[in-house]
Amino acid sequence: MKTNVDLQPYNSFGFHTVAKHFVEINDIQELEALIRSDVFKREKHLILSGGNNVLFQDEFFDGIVMHINTKGIEVVENQGNDVVVKAQGGEDWPEFVKKMVAMGLYGVENLAHIPGKVGAAPVQNIGAYGMELKDSLLQCEAIELATGKKRVFTKEECQFGYRNSIFKNELKGQYVIISVDFLLKKDAPLHLEYGNIKAYLEQNGIESPTLLQLHDAICAIRDAKLPDVKKIGSAGSFFKNPVISAEQFEALQKQHPNIPHYDEPNDKVKVPAGWLIEQAGWKGWRDEHVGVYEKQALVLVHYGGSKGQDVVELAQRIQQSVEEKFGIRISPEVNFV
Ligand code: EPU
Repeated sequence: MKTNVDLQPYNSFGFHTVAKHFVEINDIQELEALIRSDVFKREKHLILSGGNNVLFQDEFFDGIVMHINTKGIEVVENQGNDVVVKAQGGEDWPEFVKKMVAMGLYGVENLAHIPGKVGAAPVQNIGAYGMELKDSLLQCEAIELATGKKRVFTKEECQFGYRNSIFKNELKGQYVIISVDFLLKKDAPLHLEYGNIKAYLEQNGIESPTLLQLHDAICAIRDAKLPDVKKIGSAGSFFKNPVISAEQFEALQKQHPNIPHYDEPNDKVKVPAGWLIEQAGWKGWRDEHVGVYEKQALVLVHYGGSKGQDVVELAQRIQQSVEEKFGIRISPEVNFV
């Protein structure tokens, strides 16, 4: 266990928060030993995976940060069209997707190029281009920090929702996800319906894409819109897309006929927060240190030299102005620590 570790390399916003204690977890035995230790019982703790969806608000974390680094990918079942693949929590998510695509396995290709690790993917049910993690997750294995006991969570037990799961709600901070089992297919239809996938493929002269061509197209589309976290600090989408009643939406559409939207079950409509933020005049706004990404208003960025609090304040100002203009309260998707 190390002390006073700067977490700057461990969070994609790149904030210099110092952790009182920092432990690298490379296998389950290390995690079990940590759970049994006195210091663990005394101190508060934080499970840190890729650090791509966290915002450190303070400059000091007064407790133990557990950095999950377990590795391994294996095929555990192969029957007919179905292949079950087990990936350890510390595996890099985009590399995992690349590997599945290279193996010719369908089910995670639209989630290409999302920065992060496998173990964090179920926590927020990562999603992009018409696919969500829950579509391919079979089950995941986790360790309860209070007891050190292993528990398998089925897909239903994960209680997945839009950028949501039980691990973000009633079990928040209580379980470390050590591995995820994916049910993938040797053959399956590709999902090309979302946004500009088809337009991109057409522009590049691709008529019926292969699995690899779709993967590469999604990487290119993301690169064109989202900042590279190695160059500009960010946590991807900062806010969730709000879901409003059909009634509220119709009133809004009268004033803004071009408002993009997606129909949801139960007479609800999802509206892109990026559009609302752009209309409220924030796209490309910046001061010296923080700002709203010029190509995608849903992404708040840190240009360096600043503190988490500055992003918190910017987010509050954006929330307030969107609420004043549209009467919609947008809520963060990023986890505040
Ligand atoms: N839009 C604007 N202005 C902007 C951004 C978007 O008008 O600045 C409009 C777009 O023109 C489009 C609509 O909003 O009509 C939706 O935009 P886009 O397809 O880029 O997706 P999004 O709703 O902004 C969501 C996810 C992303 C995911 C993309 C693609 C959330 C919170 N975000 O963004 O996920 O990559 O769809 O599927 O649901 C993430 O979670 O970190 C993330 C990047």
